Amino acid sequence: MSIKSLIRNIPDYPKKGIMFRDITTLFGDAEGLREVIDTLAGEFQDQKIDVIAGIEARGFIIGPAVALALGVGFVPVRKKGKLPAETVSVEYDLEYGSDIIEMHVDAIKPGQRVLILDDLIATGGTALAAIELVKKAGGVPVSCAFIIDLPDLGGADRIRNAGVPVFNMVEFEGE
Ligand code: PRP
Ligand code: MG
Repeated sequence: MSIKSLIRNIPDYPKKGIMFRDITTLFGDAEGLREVIDTLAGEFQDQKIDVIAGIEARGFIIGPAVALALGVGFVPVRKKGKLPAETVSVEYDLEYGSDIIEMHVDAIKPGQRVLILDDLIATGGTALAAIELVKKAGGVPVSCAFIIDLPDLGGADRIRNAGVPVFNMVEFEGE
């Protein structure tokens, strides 16, 4: 089974006209889950990553597993108001309105090389905000990695234009 075929497609979720890419079926498959973690860890094992920053919510599923494989720590990037200690925060645009993500201000030591992980990149707004967060906390955003890229929405190009490399395993384009 390919990784792509293990991702379930749900039409009209969360609203009409949207095709939702459901990775719970991929994570529920032992071989699929292993391939995701092995591929991400293999891609970055020689890039001197110091810490992984995983983006709420699905970045929390893959982040710690990849961190264990690389022998590094894991830092959560959370939606506003969820972290208990002092935070840095970045506001980013959504389709309607805006949202805020946060990270503990001391989660990353100055100069640490950070891999930003999430399940999917669409417009890139979330990942761009995470890049800003890492910089605010004093870290170096080495790369962003995702299982899924939706290239039609241009997010990966926005990240690359911001000077940060992008890695993804699967693309859904024009479908
Ligand atoms: C989804 C997805 C990414 C983000 C990508 O998360 O998991 O985190 O959107 O979109 P973007 O590239 O256009 O910013 P969502 O914000 O729906 O929240 P969740 O992960 O907490 O469910
Ligand atoms: Mg998300």
